Amino acid sequence: MIAGYGWCGKGAAMRAKGLGAKVIVTEVDPVKAIEAVMDGFTVMKMEDAAPLGDFFVTVTGCSRVITENSFLKMHEGAILSNAGHFDVEVDMAGLKKLAVRSFEARQNITGYTLPNGVTVYVIAEGRLVNLAAGDGHPAEIMDMSFAIQARSAEWLIANRDTVTSVLNNVPRAVDEAVARQKLASMQIEIDTLTDEQRAYLYGDEKHAVL
Ligand SMILES: NC(=O)c1ccc[n+]([C@@H]2O[C@H](COP(=O)([O-])OP(=O)(O)OC[C@H]3O[C@@H](n4cnc5c(N)ncnc54)[C@H](O)[C@@H]3O)[C@@H](O)[C@H]2O)c1
Repeated sequence: MIAGYGWCGKGAAMRAKGLGAKVIVTEVDPVKAIEAVMDGFTVMKMEDAAPLGDFFVTVTGCSRVITENSFLKMHEGAILSNAGHFDVEVDMAGLKKLAVRSFEARQNITGYTLPNGVTVYVIAEGRLVNLAAGDGHPAEIMDMSFAIQARSAEWLIANRDTVTSVLNNVPRAVDEAVARQKLASMQIEIDTLTDEQRAYLYGDEKHAVL
């Protein structure tokens, strides 16, 4: 069960499906929810997914996505994890208060026995599971993240006289430069628009950088 079908949730759902899992997605955004449906996933409310899920992953950036209501509907042995942020997506404070017993089931996996006798298991205390219980991000991902950050900082300095103090999207040119470098490092070549094609697609739009 994946909560949140954003950038990270989509990736998690896709990988889980690739491993043979039947994936259920929960969402609050109707557009993301319909995307998940069109991508072939089962979409439902968390309270309906709670009794069905064997393995829960939250990836929302939100708080208290899985709470007491849901914990009490889970089956014996359900495993909970969070790949979103902090330890609030799985309501750890609520779970600790609710549980009648907790114990270390395996290293970094805690069992919580609920008043109904069911024990659920939480990986890495509900903190970012890939960082707290795995090897973190692979280098193939971090190199692009760091490149985007470095080039964005460079862009901010170059445009310091004109940039406004609001949240700015990473400029398309920065994204594109990093993508091109990454493709080149992987010896992958792509096609290039001809002048005719560029005019056909963009007319004389100034922002078109392809
Ligand atoms: N573990 C990691 O390595 C890693 C990497 C990148 C980002 N993150 C974190 O993952 C989280 C999600 O990042 P993203 O880039 O996918 O964000 P995103 O905004 O693209 O996706 C979040 C999705 O969660 C949905 N959502 C919000 N509240 C919800 C709720 N209560 N129930 C169900 N769905 C809900 C939103 O509608 C949205 O579609 C963030 O907290 C981010 O910091 C983790």
